[in-house]
Amino acid sequence: MLDTKVAQLLNTQVNKEFYSAYLYLDFSNYYQSEGLEGFANWYKIQAQEERDHAMLFMQYLQNNGCSVTLDAIDKPDKELKGFADPLHAGYEHEQYVTGLIHTIYDAASTVKDFRTMQFLDWFVKEQGEEETNAEGLIKKFDLFGSDPRALYMLDNELGARVYSAPSLVL
Ligand code: FEO
Repeated sequence: MLDTKVAQLLNTQVNKEFYSAYLYLDFSNYYQSEGLEGFANWYKIQAQEERDHAMLFMQYLQNNGCSVTLDAIDKPDKELKGFADPLHAGYEHEQYVTGLIHTIYDAASTVKDFRTMQFLDWFVKEQGEEETNAEGLIKKFDLFGSDPRALYMLDNELGARVYSAPSLVL
């Protein structure tokens, strides 16, 4: 059995990951309504990845004999007034999620729960990649976003993203 606090944090993370999926679906819907279908595609796939993360946390709890409590998912409440807003909100959100993962890691480390630390290693790496991607999108938008033709090409580039299942299998 897992330490109570570690299990609680892991259970909370299930909700946080589903919230991330919800948030990115909101971003996707925003871009869709603005006619930027590539950006919409990018965030729709990001939402799928977040759902996968939630499922992995759930599965890990169940593999360790813990029951899972599903809580209400908050409504996405970021105000999106311009094309760059989701990019900045997304980057901030990923930094926040990194902090959450580190907090769970810290709790697992305190009780010498090496199994959970090993499970979380994948997420630590994943967060690094997600922050890099989110920051990269901001840089690209800053460079090209104000030129309609360049924005069109960037939108096409983001439209080419395809979903792939997470490399972590439990
Ligand atoms: Fe589940 Fe974007 O990290």
